[in-house]
Amino acid sequence: MKQPPQPGDFLKPVLPGKGDTDYERYLRTDELLSLQKPVAERLHPDEHTFQIVHQSSELLLRGAHNELERARIHIEKGDLQNAAHLLRRANDLLHYPIDLLHVLDTLTPYDYHLIRAGLGHGSGLQSPGFLSMLHIAPQLGEVFFRRVKETGITLEELYRRNQEFFGLHELAELLLDFDQRIQKFRFDHLKLAQRIIGGNVIGTGGNPVDILRQRQEHALYKELWDVRNQITERVSASTMSQEASGHGDQ
Ligand code: HEM
Repeated sequence: MKQPPQPGDFLKPVLPGKGDTDYERYLRTDELLSLQKPVAERLHPDEHTFQIVHQSSELLLRGAHNELERARIHIEKGDLQNAAHLLRRANDLLHYPIDLLHVLDTLTPYDYHLIRAGLGHGSGLQSPGFLSMLHIAPQLGEVFFRRVKETGITLEELYRRNQEFFGLHELAELLLDFDQRIQKFRFDHLKLAQRIIGGNVIGTGGNPVDILRQRQEHALYKELWDVRNQITERVSASTMSQEASGHGDQ
């Protein structure tokens, strides 16, 4: 007869891989925690934090990209609920790379220059995680705006009749959240670069820091921001015409 599991059995790993426990084997912590420079190779003790912040951000951006790609496929298939669920999760993930930038606000300029000396021509412009955001954003926009068009409404109508087109309206707002997160990342990153190396210098990638300011102004979904102007203009025009005909506030 098969013996019931004993408490000690759960301590024995059953998964293949390196590490004494299944936790280490499943998460491959051995490899993960060997990806930072050892103490003796660090150009400054703060380099450990600098590397961990960047590596964590790459992982989180990769996670966000995975969910955004899944959301894109759901929108294409017309499954707006699952798309919204995944877009929300991707936006939640993006919150952390933004927060992590503030950990690096604690680096002081002279110390950072010691770390910077070891970056070669490395530049955040080469970040695979951030580039994947810039790549997926227009693809998501394409499936979303196609769906709005197929529904036979304008963006302004989508906002006016938001209860009727609840799922699509929710997606519009989640895409705007995504856009806002990217802009917030860029804004907070610009401030980080300005406070550590200055706003009028050249980055390690050979570009002036000022390009960060220009890129920060870029919107992923300009249409979703512009529709707000249209709505305000419509409301103002109708208020003015009500006032002119004597039906305004008393
Ligand atoms: C001490 C901290 C940091 C400094 C001084 C800094 C500085 C810079 C500079 C000067 C650039 C312009 C390109 C160039 O290098 O020539 C840049 C771009 C960039 N950096 Fe950083 N960076 C820092 C931390 C980070 C972190 C933690 C991330 C997280 C992934 C990051 C991601 C990026 C990205 C994505 C870009 C391109 C931005 C865009 O497309 O608008 N950086 N960085």
